[in-house]
Amino acid sequence: MTSRIVNFSAGPACLPLEVLQEAQEALISLNGTGIGILEHSHRGAAFMAVYEQAISLIREVGSVPDNYHVLFVQGGASLQFAMLPMNFLSEDQTADYLNTGAWSKKAIQEAERFGNVNVAASSEDRNFCYIPKDVRFSENAEYVHFTSNNTIFGTQFAIEPDVPDGATLICDASSDIFSRPIDVSKYGMIYAGGQKNLGPSGLVLVLIRDDLVEHGNPDLPAMLQYRTFASNQSMYNTPPTFGIYLIGRVCHWILQNGGLDGMADRNRMKADQLYDFLDSSSLFQATADVDSRSQMNVTFVTGDPEIDSAFVNEATSLGFDGLKGHRSVGGMRASIYNAFRQDEMDAFVHFLKTFEAAHV
Ligand SMILES: Cc1ncc(COP(=O)(O)O)c(C=O)c1O
Repeated sequence: MTSRIVNFSAGPACLPLEVLQEAQEALISLNGTGIGILEHSHRGAAFMAVYEQAISLIREVGSVPDNYHVLFVQGGASLQFAMLPMNFLSEDQTADYLNTGAWSKKAIQEAERFGNVNVAASSEDRNFCYIPKDVRFSENAEYVHFTSNNTIFGTQFAIEPDVPDGATLICDASSDIFSRPIDVSKYGMIYAGGQKNLGPSGLVLVLIRDDLVEHGNPDLPAMLQYRTFASNQSMYNTPPTFGIYLIGRVCHWILQNGGLDGMADRNRMKADQLYDFLDSSSLFQATADVDSRSQMNVTFVTGDPEIDSAFVNEATSLGFDGLKGHRSVGGMRASIYNAFRQDEMDAFVHFLKTFEAAHV
């Protein structure tokens, strides 16, 4: 087998090797059918079994209540930025948005095409390095939208924002879905692009409460209404069958590794190890405020762009790939989603120490 290297990519991101090996077999012949997963009809029994299993594993992993639909939608999380207000916001209505980074801003821009947006909180004043506490909700918002983990800026909500009674909470959980326990019943809808903790890019997992589906604008094109997906098992058109298969296998892997409690322990250990080193370092500093730090994307700098660049180059040459920070933050970003392993973190922290010793 071609050997693998340590992948810090923010997304598409590393996946569990066991799942990739299973998928490799399924590409040739799915569960002994003699036909590969990419070749099976989405209407046939073999794929329907894959679909049913994926839905049931997602429900089990996320403890998704019965009054929520589990939908697979295409177009990436970015289409959800538009589909959400298209369905639930009209010209004379207002939605509250928490602006905590580049992805929140894109969600806001799309919502502004359809109705009024109240930016209830923002951390833009300090380049999004913290999760804002001062939140001003509007009186009658149709919904409240937030981004649970800010992939680019390395910040994460420790818990969901405290919204007014009866508010419909909507979350873009693209970069921390299923990384820790979640109480789905607190949300009207949760959506997540697949390419970090679930599997493939392009496919979005949507968990949405029944009444919200019914409430959506019925005049939209069919492919832009949640009810089309809800009433057709996400198969109004040909669904991304391989992605659905892979999400199912990733959820199976999550369950085999302790479920969401197991993921939370694993992620906390890795992130603590890296932040502890950064906090004790005389060369590197983490960029996010301590109480806002992400366990999924750790952003850090040396303060000298030339040393940052030398660090990234040396890391790459040693097989630590994808560490260059996003241009809006600079420095480095280590994306350490569920599938990123503890032994990979041990090796990385060892390298950080060696690099530091050579540069201070
Ligand atoms: C938090 C968050 N939201 C949305 C997106 C956009 O996702 P997509 O590229 O699937 O449209 C990303 C992509 O990385 C993200 O990290």
